[in-house]
Amino acid sequence: MSFLAERLGRIKPSATMAVTQKARELQAAGRKVIGLGAGEPDFDTPDNIKAAAIAAIRAGETKYTNVDGTPALKQAIVEKFNRENGLDYETSQVSVASGGKQIIYNAMVATVDEGDEVIVPAPYWVSYPDIALLCGGEPVFVRCPENNGFKMRPEDLEAAITPKTKWLILNSPSNPTGAAYTRSELKALTDVLMRHKQVWVLTDDMYEHLVYDGFEFATPAQVEPGLKDRTLTMNGVSKAYCMTGWRIGYAAGPHELIKAMAKVQSQSTSNPCSISQAASVEALRGPQEFIAAHNAVYRERRDMVVEMLNKAPGLTCHKPEGAFYVYPSCAGAIGRKTPQGKVIETDEDFVTYLLGQAEVAAVQGAAFGLSPHFRISYATSTELLREACTRIQKAWAALR
Ligand SMILES: Cc1ncc(COP(=O)(O)O)c(C=O)c1O
Repeated sequence: MSFLAERLGRIKPSATMAVTQKARELQAAGRKVIGLGAGEPDFDTPDNIKAAAIAAIRAGETKYTNVDGTPALKQAIVEKFNRENGLDYETSQVSVASGGKQIIYNAMVATVDEGDEVIVPAPYWVSYPDIALLCGGEPVFVRCPENNGFKMRPEDLEAAITPKTKWLILNSPSNPTGAAYTRSELKALTDVLMRHKQVWVLTDDMYEHLVYDGFEFATPAQVEPGLKDRTLTMNGVSKAYCMTGWRIGYAAGPHELIKAMAKVQSQSTSNPCSISQAASVEALRGPQEFIAAHNAVYRERRDMVVEMLNKAPGLTCHKPEGAFYVYPSCAGAIGRKTPQGKVIETDEDFVTYLLGQAEVAAVQGAAFGLSPHFRISYATSTELLREACTRIQKAWAALR
């Protein structure tokens, strides 16, 4: 009998965290590695949010709270959904967890039985399939290649649905591609879902606020109110409010699901950090202007990265609508030789080459389920990004 559980063998550690760790180790050893692997804003948490946390500590808000969130934060979340998404929820339909990741985990543990299918459009955020697998579910991947703008077509969704389908996980804007669905693209998908009553939607709206060039964000329950009673609308403060370390994510959905998720959380972590919850009330209710200021910087960086990468002959980089990632194709490198004589066979070989040759850390597309690509996070200083793109251009040119 093996000591480790059989289900642990179904999953792998997060590839993005592994790359970040490797880049940190090389930096610590004195190498001038530029890390473009991490998916977190380089901006600091705004001061008003920090001040709210300090005030909460001083006021003694340092004890256990309700398992799935304080009444104050739930109320702020209800107001956020109403104000920004035109969605009406009661506080009893809201769940707060230690990050968006825990929300997804709670929802899957609470609902997925052995053999249940979870549709995951690929490329996907690395954790979706593994969370489903850990719960005994079967991820069903739908390929969303670059020529579809990395978005799922309604006919491909239709073809993936079976009587065993329990969930569709949608993520717009997307990690790793930055692709975002317009309202009409979403409606075409929700039209399909309206014909399949057994399928629930988990919409991961984590990058809602990070959209550029006037793109208008929309979410499934808003586009198709008929789907609201089988939609879990997930969001969080990590990305837009630069609060990745504070660990607060939230969701709203049908009462029964929310109660089941609280039950899971009550037997795992209990409440998310009381101080982070107080800070999140300020994030959602306080001034929002800094978001537009950050977005102006992100957009400039996106444009620069896309332009510089596309200058390398044979390297193609699609310009995305949102988030802070690009997902260039390295198909043009496959089959070519490095100056050291190694043939690049996969996107993993390519990012390994980039790390050795250019000292730039990126993540291989294989980790996100669509190859041959690599993901670059442009949530790092413009100066470093320019340097990184120059190094990538040079490394690309050195391939034979
Ligand atoms: C698409 C997506 N969803 C969820 C998360 C998790 O967010 P959190 O840090 O709040 O757990 C991330 C973080 O990288 C993400 O990219």
